[in-house]
Amino acid sequence: MLSQKTIEIIKSTVPVLEVKGTEITSVFYKNLFTSHPELLNVFNHTNQQQGRQQTALANSVLAAAQNIDKLETILPVVKQIAQKHRSLLVKPEHYPIVGQHLLGAIKEVLGDAATDEIIGAWADAYGVIAQVFIDIEKDMYDQASSQVGGWSDFKEFKVIDKVKESDVISSFYLLPKDGSSVPSFLPGQYVTVRSQIPGEKYLANRQYSLSDVPGKEYFRISVKREAEDNKPLGKFSNYLHNEVNIGDLLEITAPAGDFTLNTEKNSDVVFISGGVGITPLISMAKSIAVSQPNRQTHFISASRNGNLQAFTNELNQLEEQLTNYNLSFVFENPSEEDLQNKNFKKQGFIDTEWLKNNIKANNTDFYLCGPVPFLKAIVSSLKELGITDSQIHYEFFGPSMSL
Ligand SMILES: Cc1cc2nc3c(=O)[nH]c(=O)nc-3n(C[C@H](O)[C@H](O)[C@H](O)COP(=O)(O)OP(=O)(O)OC[C@H]3O[C@@H](n4cnc5c(N)ncnc54)[C@H](O)[C@@H]3O)c2cc1C
Ligand code: HEM
Repeated sequence: MLSQKTIEIIKSTVPVLEVKGTEITSVFYKNLFTSHPELLNVFNHTNQQQGRQQTALANSVLAAAQNIDKLETILPVVKQIAQKHRSLLVKPEHYPIVGQHLLGAIKEVLGDAATDEIIGAWADAYGVIAQVFIDIEKDMYDQASSQVGGWSDFKEFKVIDKVKESDVISSFYLLPKDGSSVPSFLPGQYVTVRSQIPGEKYLANRQYSLSDVPGKEYFRISVKREAEDNKPLGKFSNYLHNEVNIGDLLEITAPAGDFTLNTEKNSDVVFISGGVGITPLISMAKSIAVSQPNRQTHFISASRNGNLQAFTNELNQLEEQLTNYNLSFVFENPSEEDLQNKNFKKQGFIDTEWLKNNIKANNTDFYLCGPVPFLKAIVSSLKELGITDSQIHYEFFGPSMSL
């Protein structure tokens, strides 16, 4: 328990953190990686370079400070972060290291303003916050390893098939190398994939959503090759596309993530995907076909054109399995052939007017995934149409951020 005095000190530092939060976490990461370069095997270097990870950490530290006397209010956020931590094998012994460097960074950035009293209060508060994470993550590790087919560390999987889904997306079918079965998972969950890319000093980790239904003998991930004008930009996705083939091995942690389909409910469901954001949503839609075939389901998929649209066959096949199903393709620049597709519904972008005419607000849950600007636009349209926060579920393909 924190004393009232400590709570007051922490709360009084929130305005400073608001201004200096990202600066503090930038200094923190620089110092952390200088003293613990082995942690570069765990963190995503691109997210660091783009500053998204620093912002995510700064926001969460700030949220914790603001709620230090009622940490239970930020538990849902803690759980989401803990899922990511567990999938990357963050362990209790890492917390004191992070704490030491976080306090060091606060001191370095605030200078004389960071009195011993303030640093002492933050040390106490960090201890409390870290313990909340450690406890939640312990339950998640226990759950990941105790389920049938489960495990708690990285495990080697063999690529048993590689299938082109669109001009830029390919699926990898994966089986455990040791012959064990794969565990079940919740539709929408992801795995962390790790590999030593030739020529790179550190291991690379990336998350990929499981794109097929639970209950298959394999895991399937579907990866967009990040490139511009054929020039490779993304490190890991280009490595997977260009160098990983049938028979090769990838290391994987057990499924994680809380962006999952609620199958307890029978509300109408609308999936809205932008580009490769389709991967967790196709898993959810195919799962509805297995477990709730009468559930009213509308799949809206936006892509630049039909050649970039993945899973067209699987989306079409759902028509035979779901009794109440609509499929809408929205293409920015449709080809002549795309215009003939019976499920092509709109040229350009999904906008408020089109949504207004094609969805209903009552008793409907919306599951969204796509690039950040796409999510921003869709969430804002849905809110304009009176849809409440509790009806809107979405996931970022990178560190979470505020929309
Ligand atoms: C929960 C979750 C689920 C995910 N699921 C999927 C999925 O199912 N399928 C999928 O494909 N991805 C998914 N992702 C994203 C995935 O983890 C990777 O971030 C993605 O594959 C890009 O990794 P990369 O190493 O290729 O790109 P990085 O090297 O990490 O680069 C990241 C981005 O920055 C851009 N970039 C990099 N360098 C430059 C540069 N010099 N100039 C301009 N732009 C640049 C790249 O184009 C890329 O878009 C998911 C992410 C999360 C967090
Ligand atoms: C109380 C302490 C901590 C807080 C508040 C915190 C907060 C966060 C947040 C907000 C994210 C982004 C989550 C997302 O992707 O949406 C994150 C990711 C991450 N955290 Fe932590 N974290 C803490 C401790 C740690 C520790 C001890 C480690 C281990 C060294 C760690 C390693 C990571 C890694 C590797 C990621 C993913 C980074 C990426 O892929 O870009 N964190 N954390």
